[in-house]
Amino acid sequence: MTRPFIVAVDGPSGSGKSSVCAKACEKLGFVYVNTGQVYRCIAWLLGEWGIAEAIESVICERVTQEVPHITWDMTQNRFLYRGRDLTPFLYAESVGQGASRVAKSAAIRKLLLPLQRHIALHTTKAGAVVDGRDIASVVFPDAELKIFMEASLEVRAQRRLEQLQAHGAEADLEELQEQMQDRDHQDATRDVAPMQREHDAVILDTSDMGFEASIDALVALIRERAKTLGISFT
Ligand code: C5P
Repeated sequence: MTRPFIVAVDGPSGSGKSSVCAKACEKLGFVYVNTGQVYRCIAWLLGEWGIAEAIESVICERVTQEVPHITWDMTQNRFLYRGRDLTPFLYAESVGQGASRVAKSAAIRKLLLPLQRHIALHTTKAGAVVDGRDIASVVFPDAELKIFMEASLEVRAQRRLEQLQAHGAEADLEELQEQMQDRDHQDATRDVAPMQREHDAVILDTSDMGFEASIDALVALIRERAKTLGISFT
């Protein structure tokens, strides 16, 4: 079996990665893998287990035991924990902040890496769009296409506000902006796998693009790259 066409998409919080990548995948018949959800699941579960503030070795021991129970629901494009869909709990910015703290640990990142690779590589689809912060640098440094998706902080905060409101959550725009700025700073300056644009990644700035235009731009980049590589998919 040939390897799926891998598109690595990195970028800051709220750059539109998840919604744009998901729709682009629908158009291309690809699988979409949102690796932020894995970090969010862990952050949320640590709270549930009452060990969010524990030392790294304690957290690692528990995560090692529980990672095999995080599975991928192919039909819904979701991660499940012991068969339970945690998605509704993962949207809050507080969970994103928790994920960003967890994501600073090299040991935890190492524990979560095989799961992310496995899902993308074992799809029956022709390709996978995998988004996160270290996809082009660590998870798939050999991706067929690398994209760094960004947008201005103001635009990203506004989008996140709308996303939260759509899920029935309350949020304040200014507060969100501050939280996102802090989280981006934490993600970009950490010692291990910091968020950064790889030298061979294409920048896709969606600040002035609507949703549909962003999807079309991503799909066009993927098709163009496939054509250059002589790869065809319907
Ligand atoms: O993408 P999302 O905002 O859901 O990610 C939550 C957090 O998980 C990020 O702020 C980042 O710290 C971490 N993350 C990461 N590497 C990834 C995906 C997410 O460090 N590949």
